Amino acid sequence: MKHQFDVVIVGSGLAGLRAAIELEEDASVAVLSKVFATRSHSGAAQGGIGAALGNEEEDNWEWHMFDTVKGSDYLGDQDAIEILAQDAPRTIYELEHIGVPFNRTPEGKIAQRAFGGHTRNFGEAPVKRACYAADRTGRVILDTLWEKSLQRGIQFFDEFQLMSLIIHEGQCCGLIAYEIATGKLHTFQSKAVLLATGGYGKVYKTTSNAFASTGDGLAIAFRAGAPLEDMEFVQFHPTGIYKLGILISEAARGEGGILRNNEGERFMERYAPVIKDLAPRDMVSRCILEEIRAGKGIDGKDYVHLDLTHLGKELLDTKLAEITGFARTYAGVEPVNEPIPVQPTCHYMMGGIAADVDGRVITDSEGTAFPGLYAAGECACVSVHGANRLGCNSLLDILVFGRRAGKEMHRFISTVETVELPPDPEKVVAQQIIALMQSEGKESIGEIRAEMQKVMMDDVSVFRHKEGLEEAVEKIRELKQRYRNIRLQDKGNCFNRDLLDAIELGHMLDLAEVITLGALSREESRGAHSREDFPKRDDEKWLVHTMFKHSADEGPQLFFKPVTITRFQPKERKY
Ligand code: FUM
Repeated sequence: MKHQFDVVIVGSGLAGLRAAIELEEDASVAVLSKVFATRSHSGAAQGGIGAALGNEEEDNWEWHMFDTVKGSDYLGDQDAIEILAQDAPRTIYELEHIGVPFNRTPEGKIAQRAFGGHTRNFGEAPVKRACYAADRTGRVILDTLWEKSLQRGIQFFDEFQLMSLIIHEGQCCGLIAYEIATGKLHTFQSKAVLLATGGYGKVYKTTSNAFASTGDGLAIAFRAGAPLEDMEFVQFHPTGIYKLGILISEAARGEGGILRNNEGERFMERYAPVIKDLAPRDMVSRCILEEIRAGKGIDGKDYVHLDLTHLGKELLDTKLAEITGFARTYAGVEPVNEPIPVQPTCHYMMGGIAADVDGRVITDSEGTAFPGLYAAGECACVSVHGANRLGCNSLLDILVFGRRAGKEMHRFISTVETVELPPDPEKVVAQQIIALMQSEGKESIGEIRAEMQKVMMDDVSVFRHKEGLEEAVEKIRELKQRYRNIRLQDKGNCFNRDLLDAIELGHMLDLAEVITLGALSREESRGAHSREDFPKRDDEKWLVHTMFKHSADEGPQLFFKPVTITRFQPKERKY
């Protein structure tokens, strides 16, 4: 089946929806999603969205910019971070005006809470900067933008899996998607494609990410020639529920929650005397693991306690209802009077498809655009988060840069004609599906996925070293070989989860390889990338973005892109 639109957006999370809304009514727009639109992972964002509104205490966007640069361990591009911090208040008021039900201060202003790494006056003390709707902030923004998209007449194709991009004479002119309910292929012809497919935390065993977070957009863009940037930077959120990885929002610490070791000690006081439990995530995750290594995990196990018992039932019920519910259901503890067992969980990917501040995918270190191809949200690397993202900057990033991508695509589509598609554009994808369906191989998709998730967790997580990374590269390459020999149990066309699992696994193996190669090449410690064999940050050699380009014959090829530094020169990071 063939469809024609001006713009096709893949992903119905906040980046995709915000871009869709920005495309004015004279553009025809389709949004494809492999899940029902409002099940996108943006809906799982809990604690808040950052903006220097100054509603609770003095604040300004330059402090926000500084915190984000410092939080990024100076790897974030400062021109992009300036846009992020400066545009944040406008973004929040726009959300308010379209109906997002933020919590309020007693005077009726949008309420704000503290979040990790956000400070006043360039690091003096924590500041309340995260605007929130209890601990369901992503949920309420997603529902509101979805309603707005329906009003705008955006056409949704829910439960459509992206299979490949159509590139003709160097320009992206559409895509091929698989309709999950019927097994049919669809060709979408368009002047522009925006990838807003989210993260890929499912590469790891323990993660706060949804099952759908498998990085399809990145892997497909990579194979189509788009470079992947800074993939070695993987964020572990300090407070996932022990063994499960389900997120317990940083808002819990923003509201006063405290991390304690097996002696009941508030250990973050030792590591970050100024902002304590509200240090940035890379640091807090490392500190938890250091405590565990020092034998101070609870009952000698690999977790610590998040203590909310002093906050009182009313605060927990009104401001942290979702996460206290999770603690009751999944950890079997009552947070009003018992601490929650927590450990770091893979939460967010700083790396992604290299893109500029207007969402254009870029192909080289000079910023040359890939005509017709755009990326925004967690699948993109703009790069505003550098080596470590601050909490509550992700919702902001996806809305600010989703909107800018929408604006830029609107300009672009008025300057180009629809490009003719190559003959039989579905052919390669159809052959790929037939090959998977007919394979008589012996390997199990589930086993390969579990082995990949384990090796990533063991050797490419918070602490890394050369030998472990080399073993991980070898293991992932072995898994890629075994993947060629998988066998599907389900041969049907209706909701064939087996086929989808196979496709997603192929994508995740490619990304796991690039993450690990990036981690192996970067011989320093910066932000979330902590090399035990290179414990220091090395600005001489490594104040640079890593970029990997696909090569079918030689494997991922590494090159570098300079970091943009404007106002803040790199300094030692102390909190
Ligand atoms: O902890 C949280 O609520 C997560 C927020 C974020 O990732 O920005």
